[in-house]
Amino acid sequence: MVKPIIYLDYNSTTPVDKRVLDAMLPFLTENFANPSSTHLFGISVNEVVKDSRALVAELIGAEQGEIVFTSGSTEAINIALKGVAENYSTKGKHIVTVATEHLAVLDTCKFLETRGYELPIYL
Ligand SMILES: Cc1ncc(COP(=O)(O)O)c(C=O)c1O
Repeated sequence: MVKPIIYLDYNSTTPVDKRVLDAMLPFLTENFANPSSTHLFGISVNEVVKDSRALVAELIGAEQGEIVFTSGSTEAINIALKGVAENYSTKGKHIVTVATEHLAVLDTCKFLETRGYELPIYL
């Protein structure tokens, strides 16, 4: 008998919620366009992205301008760490992380080290 598999790595990936799939399907099949494009299809889906941003902002009590959609965690981590590091670079250039962090974090911190940030890694 095959033992049932219990998947515990939801940090890595999760199944798509059926409600999300249903909402996304038209934009993955027929109404696809680059929302940054200036043609009619792009403008049309850009409105949908704006509506989605407004919904997410309302859901978590944020401003719409604070919501940034990314393709995944590595991109989000890069934007967050590099953005915060640069924004606070006049206050200090010391980054604290731990060796058990995901490579997406460690690699970004190592990149920042090449830009003059101090990076002691605590175990
Ligand atoms: C904790 C953690 N951070 C970052 C990532 C990188 O995610 P992505 O593959 O979406 O860039 C993962 C992926 O497994 C992860 O588990």
